[in-house]
Amino acid sequence: MSEKNVKDLGFQTRAVHTGNGVDGETGAIKRPITMANSYELPYDPSDLNWSSAGKNLYTRNGGSNQQYLQEKVASLEGGEDCVVLASGVAALSGLFFALLKSGDHVIFSSVTYIAVYRLLNELLNNKFGVETTIVDTSDPENVRKAIRPNTKLIHIETPGNPTLTISDIKAIADIAHENNALLSVDNTFASPYNQRPVELGADFSIESLTKYINGHGDAMGGAIIGKKEYLDIIRAQSQINLGATISPFNAWLIMRGAVTLPLRMKQHNENALKVAKYLKTVKGVSFVAYPGLKDHPNHDIAKKQMTNGFGGVLSFGLKADHDTYNRFVSYLNVITSAVSLGHDESLIVFLGENDERQYLYPEEFHNGFFRFSVGIEDAEDIIADLEQAFKKENLL
Ligand SMILES: Cc1ncc(COP(=O)(O)O)c(C=O)c1O
Repeated sequence: MSEKNVKDLGFQTRAVHTGNGVDGETGAIKRPITMANSYELPYDPSDLNWSSAGKNLYTRNGGSNQQYLQEKVASLEGGEDCVVLASGVAALSGLFFALLKSGDHVIFSSVTYIAVYRLLNELLNNKFGVETTIVDTSDPENVRKAIRPNTKLIHIETPGNPTLTISDIKAIADIAHENNALLSVDNTFASPYNQRPVELGADFSIESLTKYINGHGDAMGGAIIGKKEYLDIIRAQSQINLGATISPFNAWLIMRGAVTLPLRMKQHNENALKVAKYLKTVKGVSFVAYPGLKDHPNHDIAKKQMTNGFGGVLSFGLKADHDTYNRFVSYLNVITSAVSLGHDESLIVFLGENDERQYLYPEEFHNGFFRFSVGIEDAEDIIADLEQAFKKENLL
């Protein structure tokens, strides 16, 4: 397909075609993996900038597979540019370290992936003098109240891991911009199929490519999507000088996985809603947190900004003790006990009562709960697997 026209095509078409092309050397209609670390130098290399990202020089500076994936992810997220890095956490730390300096202030969601909490509230705060405020961003007014003259960045995660808290991207982007601050949104739980933060006004969207975009649980990667003026800084500092480069093989795997993102997300969205509705009928379930349920506290905002569905992750609690949670998991056959999410297969993780951040979560999460990444298997098989485990513990 001619690459000129790809930009104007639909989401599924871009998922298939963007970043792919005919290989110039062999004529293959899939671009190959280039695993070389180094590239041939020109006759006189003495005036080359060894820290430049622009040309093929050294794989830490960039390479063709990274470039192809960047094109695809930027296109799917509706962003001007994209940097892909070694993991989702590399993308998050890459953004924070490149943008923030000592004396700057950051506001971030009370519900985020644990590494965000560690990076902002411990590392950048204690070692590098960055001021931090944690707020419940499900109410944008809490963000407005926390703004200081030196607020440089607001970072939110929506839906948030692990409570599925929803924050209003557009409202918080307006607050950020009225106050000369930037907004970054961790979009990992939604994926660009369901939600595109940059189109809603955010300055940056962050993805753990490890999750839905790759989708097969066999590669790690991360992406930052936004304006080129900022991403050039991140590319120079976090990729080239800090060395958070993704391997060409992982970039190629993620490129391959991303082709079916829309198809997989349709199934994740559909299955998770079915499972959430089923769990609501189970007597021994104490609560179900899923933004697709009408009784989710921010269902209306989720509906407004998650235009294709609510994703595959939900959390739920049992009216049971610690040991029952572990026994329940041991009965499961289709669903695997493992961290991560957004894989093809269903994954469940028991998050116990001793999480140090529990004070930041709603009360129902304080006695332990499951985070459940609903996979793309047949929904009937997932539900039957849960049902037989509930039965064994008399929880039905
Ligand atoms: C919301 C969210 N962001 C970022 C990450 C980190 O991604 P990675 O494991 O690719 O570093 C995770 C991992 O679980 C996550 O859930």
